[in-house]
Amino acid sequence: MKTQPVLSSLSVLFALTGIHSARAVEGMVYVDGLRPLSANGWTEADEINIGYHRYERGVAVDGNSEVEYAVSRFDGRFEAWAGFHKGGARKGAKLTFKVLADGKTVYDSGVVKFHAKNLAMKVSVPLDGVKRLRLVVTGDEGRADWAEARILPENRVYFEPRIPASDPEVGKLAMTPMMGVNTWNAFGRSINEKLIRELADCLVDKGLRDLGYRYLCLDDGYQHKSLRDENGRPRWDERKFPSGMKALADYIHSKGLKFGMYSRPKWVKEGNEDKAAGTFAGWEIDFLKYDFSNPRNIKAMIEATRRAGRPVLFNACEWGKRQPWEWAERHGAQSWRITYDVMDVWYSDGDQNPVGILRSAYQGEALGRYSGPGHWNDLDMLVIGLKGKTHLPGRGGATDEDYRSQMSLWCLLASPLAIGGDIRNMSEENLAILTNEEVIAIDQDPLGVPACRAKKIREQEVWLRPLANGEYAVGLLNVGGETIRVSATWRELGLRGSFRARDLWAHKELGRFDGKLEFDVRPHETRLVRLKPVR
Ligand code: GLA
Repeated sequence: MKTQPVLSSLSVLFALTGIHSARAVEGMVYVDGLRPLSANGWTEADEINIGYHRYERGVAVDGNSEVEYAVSRFDGRFEAWAGFHKGGARKGAKLTFKVLADGKTVYDSGVVKFHAKNLAMKVSVPLDGVKRLRLVVTGDEGRADWAEARILPENRVYFEPRIPASDPEVGKLAMTPMMGVNTWNAFGRSINEKLIRELADCLVDKGLRDLGYRYLCLDDGYQHKSLRDENGRPRWDERKFPSGMKALADYIHSKGLKFGMYSRPKWVKEGNEDKAAGTFAGWEIDFLKYDFSNPRNIKAMIEATRRAGRPVLFNACEWGKRQPWEWAERHGAQSWRITYDVMDVWYSDGDQNPVGILRSAYQGEALGRYSGPGHWNDLDMLVIGLKGKTHLPGRGGATDEDYRSQMSLWCLLASPLAIGGDIRNMSEENLAILTNEEVIAIDQDPLGVPACRAKKIREQEVWLRPLANGEYAVGLLNVGGETIRVSATWRELGLRGSFRARDLWAHKELGRFDGKLEFDVRPHETRLVRLKPVR
């Protein structure tokens, strides 16, 4: 018992050094320490590396392999992070990861395509009553890893403890994820003060502000083409914003809203950060998205912003290429983008900008351990309501079903919620997605633990998020193209007892459930349910 705090702080240390190490839990057994009953195509390897991440240990295998373990003496849970070994396959290679419990498939990733930035997928399955656990990888040549493969003593889903904000004062700026509007997706560079004022009015009139959408954020397009004035200070385009930034801020603040600004190191020019931060403070900004940046210039800009003395929420944006989840928080950022831009489509499996909704969610799951009160993974803007009316490539736009699932997933994953659609001209249906209070409450839950997939069998995904008051949010998602039955037993979710379930999209009490949730789920639909224990 005594060793626990030391080990937990070790896991914090590993998180800081970029080496992933599972939280040490008393009674936990690493699978790489067990002698397999049989192993076909099993390869030894000294390093476990998936996507950007190095793991302390795990089971390294061939792209075609089966490893079986005797597990009858365990009745807790098997957990691992599965994925392509970094550099271990050619681009475009395909693998399927499966876990079989006494011959029954209990995890099936479906076909996963390799590219360098693919992050790991959480595998979490119950072990009680199971005699043989078989880890199977099929597909191409190549290498794969079952990182952190371990058997845990209890049948519950193990979420990493939240890493507290390194500076509690700075963390206070975003104890829950930021909510607001960003101009980029709908308007691109065609922004001006009339539009921003209309958006401010609309945030108030349509009740969005009072639901928490407080930050009204300008993106690319406000700046003067010379970028800086003769004194090296940021400059806006006077034709688009004739009244100036301070007057705009006054208007926004008079509406009870916060003013969000956008910039880049190239616009500020390195060494000029104090001038820029001072100017922004003079404009009375409350949020800054700093784009196309690296750790050095993000740090410099955050420090200058703090010296300028105004509390400013800081969003680091560099598409996740330099793994900002490893360092942005320590530099003082409250959120950081983890993906390329999310476009108005459901899925993309490519390795370039932009990406579909589902890929960003998967990335968010893999990085869940980095998010928590004060510091959040940013899954990018919501594409809800764009309906293809965007400069992002989107081929006609996602469907309303896709939009509801984006909202469900962003909220399950505790992402900032930045509306990217035009709220002035949005259908009632799409506005209803953004203004669903019960779903927003999941995003803003004070425990701040992002969901993971407690069950994944091909198209069936069950996302589980623990909430502060002992309740759970469960998303039953069908990622396939046909309506299917999606089910989740308490055993699969690692839950016990009775729960009352409430459907958060239908706003309906579903009654008491004693062991299982099960629904017909349409293609791309997420049934989002809140489970309240019956005591
Ligand atoms: C990058 C960012 C986008 C947006 C544009 C503006 O692509 O990822 O969110 O800010 O720049 O040019």
